[in-house]
Amino acid sequence: MFSALYNNLLVSSESERQAATAQIITLLGEGNPDAFAAMLGLCNKVIQTQNALDRTADDALPREVFTATSSANLLRSRARVGGYVRALSRVPAGIETAIDAGCGSTAILAIATAVLHPDARIRAADIHEPSLRCARKMVELCGLEDRIEVIKSNVLTDRQPFVDLAVTETFASGLTVERGQDITARLSTIANEILPAAVILSATDSDDPDRMWQPCTTIDLSDPGKYAEGSFRASGTGVLPISVYAGFYDARGDSVITRCGSNNLTMPVKLGEVKAIRQGAEISFSYRMGTELHQEPPQLSAT
Ligand SMILES: C[S@@+](CC[C@H](N)C(=O)[O-])C[C@H]1O[C@@H](n2cnc3c(N)ncnc32)[C@H](O)[C@@H]1O
Repeated sequence: MFSALYNNLLVSSESERQAATAQIITLLGEGNPDAFAAMLGLCNKVIQTQNALDRTADDALPREVFTATSSANLLRSRARVGGYVRALSRVPAGIETAIDAGCGSTAILAIATAVLHPDARIRAADIHEPSLRCARKMVELCGLEDRIEVIKSNVLTDRQPFVDLAVTETFASGLTVERGQDITARLSTIANEILPAAVILSATDSDDPDRMWQPCTTIDLSDPGKYAEGSFRASGTGVLPISVYAGFYDARGDSVITRCGSNNLTMPVKLGEVKAIRQGAEISFSYRMGTELHQEPPQLSAT
């Protein structure tokens, strides 16, 4: 299955490549490992042919900019890509224009949007030139270059046309480090629907592997707020380690990717420690989104 799909994408006619792409997207939504391997194999080949192998170490780039290899490797997370593909398939029919903001080297979300919304014309935007070269080639190999325009654009600062749907995966765990929440707030001004549309932050005060997560705040991703703030009840007393994790939801409140630790977006983030003198005390937290926590340490209190 994998090599047949892969070979179709590489050598056959445009309509056959489109059919193979549609089959791969369906299989990605089903979590089929061969489909992920096929897309990753294809993108790795494209990275070679586009001379987009990283000459700069990842940590020499700003944290929110991904090398072509790094964004291709994101295809290894079946929970992440599968969750987005299923969420894209739930977006009501009638999408005619869309943007994939931060398309990376695979342009996987633009490609999935094109397959699942056959009337849509899509703008796939990124700021990293080598990734864009790969994304262009990926779109061509998928037979979709008539419908997906791959362009260099900073989605935070450049003017964008109004679209029916804006999809982005520009997040790190707990909405720290990357600018996803700023990007969705911007996209909500140019799109009828954003995907994802909301985050629920859950918190815990235990390092126990079977710890209980308490949902404590919903973040509307169209809101340009700077701080993640929430509160929950202490499950014990003493000096308690506080962690949060983010679950992502679509505009209808359905899960995009919500299971704790299922991938890098939903990994727990340690905020610090707080002393609670009674069980049931209200523990409050506040931290700046889109930055490293050590740059501005989280505020924690128990009352
Ligand atoms: C986590 S990767 C996701 C890639 C791809 N969408 C996927 O789902 O596999 C985020 C991408 O967003 C790009 N990016 C970050 N900030 C951006 C901005 N302000 N404008 C456009 N692209 C941006 C990065 O260069 C990177 O390729």
